[in-house]
Amino acid sequence: MTTKKNVKITVDGRQIEAPGESSLLTALLAEGFEIPHLCYHEAVSPYGACRLCLVEVNQKGWDADWWKLTTSCNFPVLDGLTVRTESEKILKHRRLVIELILARAPGAKKVQSIARSLGVTQPRVRTMDDELCILCGLCARVCDEVIGAKALTFHGRGGKKDMGTPFAEANENCIGCGACEAVCPTGAVKITDIMLTRRLERWETEHEFVPCRICGKPVGTKKQIEHLRKKIFLEEEIFVTCTECKRDRYARSVVAEGHL
Ligand code: FES
Repeated sequence: MTTKKNVKITVDGRQIEAPGESSLLTALLAEGFEIPHLCYHEAVSPYGACRLCLVEVNQKGWDADWWKLTTSCNFPVLDGLTVRTESEKILKHRRLVIELILARAPGAKKVQSIARSLGVTQPRVRTMDDELCILCGLCARVCDEVIGAKALTFHGRGGKKDMGTPFAEANENCIGCGACEAVCPTGAVKITDIMLTRRLERWETEHEFVPCRICGKPVGTKKQIEHLRKKIFLEEEIFVTCTECKRDRYARSVVAEGHL
């Protein structure tokens, strides 16, 4: 039976407590266990795409010798669970998984670093030289679940599978917030800001910035500001002033009121 209260689990012989039903990977990372992962982010739901966060689990009531190999990001913390994080079987599978990811995105620094830590230097299969996207889907999940824009999706199948805007065209739903770039683990999503224009290369999309009414620096894209206006009800000033000028004004008001 699962519960939302803290439950006890045993990891590599050490007993720890974690909220029942929460993600096993979250619990392991919080306790300092080093579990490689590429498609997990605490802000969005787990997807189990990269298969790197593999662990072995044995649930209460199971035969003591029966261990199930599973991804930990989408496996729940269950009372009495026993977990192995570094068995030979786990390492063997992680090595194979990272080798395949490295073959797809050999230039991705984070992938290279995880591969090195697992003793993998060169993939045995054909590589895609200029690809950085590992199809983890984080950009689409953050765009959907956190921003609510749903501007990105997977398309194609098999070797042609790719992430992008529907029909690979500039998408009206994109607000140019940059959340996709922020969560991308490999640098596949690139944003270029030049003067008052933001370009999201991979999504074939361009946005115009709203300039700060005081210094003229970009505050946010027009669509991003519109989106925020509908969601949060704050004085108009907030939406047309950049962070530095806001901070400056606040500091001056503190001095003027004699708090310093
Ligand atoms: S982090 Fe769990 S499958 Fe990618």
